[in-house]
Amino acid sequence: MSELYYPGLENVIASETRISFLDVDNEEIVLRGYDLIELAHKVTYLDIVFLLLNGNLPNEEQYKGLEQDLKREAGLPKETIQLLRLLPKNTHLMDVLRTGISALAGEETEIDDRSWAANYRKSIRLLAKVPQIVADSFRAVNNQDPIEPRQDLSYSANFMYMITGQVPTETEAKIFDQSLIVYSEHEMPNSTFTARVIASTQADIIGALTGAVASLKGTLHGGANEAVMHMLLEAGAVDKMEPLILGKLSRKERIMGFGHRVYMKKPDPRALLMKEALQPLATAKGQEHLYQMCLIGEEVMYREKGLHPNLDYYAAPVYYLLGIPIDLFTPVFLAARTIGVCAHVIEQHENNRLFRPRVLYSGPRNLHP
Ligand code: SDX
Repeated sequence: MSELYYPGLENVIASETRISFLDVDNEEIVLRGYDLIELAHKVTYLDIVFLLLNGNLPNEEQYKGLEQDLKREAGLPKETIQLLRLLPKNTHLMDVLRTGISALAGEETEIDDRSWAANYRKSIRLLAKVPQIVADSFRAVNNQDPIEPRQDLSYSANFMYMITGQVPTETEAKIFDQSLIVYSEHEMPNSTFTARVIASTQADIIGALTGAVASLKGTLHGGANEAVMHMLLEAGAVDKMEPLILGKLSRKERIMGFGHRVYMKKPDPRALLMKEALQPLATAKGQEHLYQMCLIGEEVMYREKGLHPNLDYYAAPVYYLLGIPIDLFTPVFLAARTIGVCAHVIEQHENNRLFRPRVLYSGPRNLHP
């Protein structure tokens, strides 16, 4: 057996998968054979849900069937809504979300059934309920009543409605739907790997997703989008962006929204799509300065560090302009990624080998009490 040690598992192939692949050389994110960015321009998030679960894009009848399944499964048990309101009001919203998702396990009659059909049904229930847990997590810690899902809105419009209490415009719902698509699946990030490691013990899909939530909260991972928005608000003006970033770099601080373990010095294709969405949205909202600040940040980071923005850098101001509370940016990321995590857990359960790596021991030996 070869004993190789790669810190952080950098460039280590952890799984064989038919779900997605980051083709960095060709700057393409492959999703079940399709280019994610082309998909984001041509289909909706529910098409991506069907594709990731079934391996092909849906026809009209299959799309309507998926939409009906999700509407049928929408709604949270009253116990879950009560539970979120029992948590301390200063609870981080990713921790509220993790608690809410974990509590769904008690509602599952087939929790330990790892068959494809049972995992498919559980995935649909999670996709139907996680957006409401996200929206209600904010309302729970702010002493607001829950907003029930509406049956007359699209999946993305309903998600935004449950968060903001307002029905979004068609343009806003389209931009939000595109953001869910580009956040939906991204090969083997830490959170997806976490879920596959959990699933590899034959643990259930809800436990695996709960682990992924804990991982995604970290600012090196999903928490970056909230940190980006706080940085933009800290700068506050176009002429303050460069000095703020240079100051952080001089203190050896990481600039959130830049860099990526896989893309390294190459651009993140998803960031460009959100950048294209941000410009007209900022103009429509009379917030053009946000777009200009982002351009300056991008130019400074490339000049100083040779780094490109990742998806979180441009998704953050888009969410801010759509009226999403900053504390919900990472929970929305998790809701979008729920489909990717479910697809990977299903694949892990179908063709499993327990994850159990070794260590390079550098501690003492031959001690005696
Ligand atoms: C996501 O895996 C995925 O696909 C994740 C994700 C997904 O869709 O699931 O894409 C979502 O998590 C995107 C990343 C969001 N995180 C951030 O934006 C946080 C800021 N980024 C960095 O912390 C960093 O770029 C990471 C964590 C994303 C990647 O770090 P690596 O691969 O471990 O790289 P590294 O820490 O070894 O840095 C290499 C060099 C270092 O310079 P030197 O010390 O060698 O001189 O690049 C520098 C770093 O200092 N560097 C940065 C930087 N990122 C890397 N310097 C300043 N700011 C940064 N953001």
